[in-house]
Amino acid sequence: MLYPNLDASEIFAERESQRSSLHTRYLNEQLVRVLKTIGYDVGFKRGEGQYLFDRDDSRYLDLLSGFGVFAIGRNHPVLRQALKSVLDADLPNLVQMDVSTLAGVLAERLLERVPYMDKVFFANSGTECVEAAIKFARGATGRTGVVYCDHAYHGLSYGSLSLTDDNNFRGGFGPLLPDCSVVPFNDLAALERALSSRQVAAFIVEPVQGKGVNIPSDEFLPGAAALCRRYGTLMVADEIQSGMGRTGKFLAVEHWNVEPDMVLLSKSLSGGHVPVGAVLTRKAIFDKIFSRMDRAVVHGSTFAKNDLAMAAGIATLEVMKAEKLIENAAARGAQLHAALSDLIPKYEMLKEVRGKGLMLGVEFGPPKSLKLKAAWSLLETANKGLFCQLITVPLFKDHKILTQVAGHASHTIKLLPSLTINDDDCKWIVSSFESVIAASHQVPGAIWSLGKTLVDNAVRKSA
Ligand SMILES: Cc1ncc(COP(=O)(O)O)c(C=O)c1O
Repeated sequence: MLYPNLDASEIFAERESQRSSLHTRYLNEQLVRVLKTIGYDVGFKRGEGQYLFDRDDSRYLDLLSGFGVFAIGRNHPVLRQALKSVLDADLPNLVQMDVSTLAGVLAERLLERVPYMDKVFFANSGTECVEAAIKFARGATGRTGVVYCDHAYHGLSYGSLSLTDDNNFRGGFGPLLPDCSVVPFNDLAALERALSSRQVAAFIVEPVQGKGVNIPSDEFLPGAAALCRRYGTLMVADEIQSGMGRTGKFLAVEHWNVEPDMVLLSKSLSGGHVPVGAVLTRKAIFDKIFSRMDRAVVHGSTFAKNDLAMAAGIATLEVMKAEKLIENAAARGAQLHAALSDLIPKYEMLKEVRGKGLMLGVEFGPPKSLKLKAAWSLLETANKGLFCQLITVPLFKDHKILTQVAGHASHTIKLLPSLTINDDDCKWIVSSFESVIAASHQVPGAIWSLGKTLVDNAVRKSA
């Protein structure tokens, strides 16, 4: 039988010059416009480790890592081999009326890393883990309430959107899930007020918040765990971004010696290639959901536990161990934190560097000197958070560093690289940040001409 050409690399080579027009026509046209406007439409053609390569084979350092999925780097040879081995083995994948061997093995390995947990539920994405956690918490406690923190991001399906504190994502989609309420991050008194009703099934929290890279006070997570115990609420740690070594520990909660009732993992567990999510929980909770034979499939998803995803998870854990990536995240994170913090006294708009391991935020804020103040307000009046684009755009164009602003209207730039970055990469990051930040403190100057273009764009958009 004659098939069309199905070789992915040949399809890519043949059609990649049309990627924008294909997306404009068939997918998200607005995203194409955004990328063109900020000059990010370079057309990457290859990824390897922490690097991306464009059409001219110029190397970029990727501090976005696919929103945090490429912890072990892109196209890791060990991961690739593991995935090929699945395809070559004719395994009995997704029989459904059978139990998966690879899922059993991945569950066993995950629970070795988090020994106080007993059970794993697999899903296909971060948001599916959050949905499962909401259902498990309600099912196990018989309560309906869910408490989350301000600035939280837990995903965009209805349950998780109801726990995501951002109207940019919620607008136009209501009504959301009932009985969800917000408390300020780091406010134990407010949390106690919310939990004391004894109607709250779960308190869900990102140990390090992804939007804004907010770090809890040393008391917050241990205090929250104690309050949850006192009022019969289950504590859910959303480690979808912060887990799997990102912060220099396997789980970020380990920094504060907290043992939640559920831990959610996704992103990095996939090795970046096959979507996967895992809810780690205790037997007592799990058994309340899957409580009888007629409830054996009361929650689940068709593709969860598929062999490619399970093999990706198993390989990712092994690569992390063999290459000591968690230790590297701790060491490189500390190195970057120190070197970037050293810039603060030199640049008045650079306010703070914070984070844990390789989840770092670089925060900017209003200047004191008059000339800069005027320029800052011009930008911020046009569009709050625009200043950060004066940093991220030249970082990309002039220094080949791909990074992101840590949320809507945010003054924080987030660094979320692969955990494989080395000393040279750290030097690349620090010298590039310093050069761009120095230029941003010069008015008039090239960066502020970019600022004017961004303001004009913002004004045109709102007109
Ligand atoms: C902390 C956290 N929770 C949940 C999610 C949602 O994951 P997904 O995009 O895979 O649905 C994300 C994604 O960025 C996240 O960072």
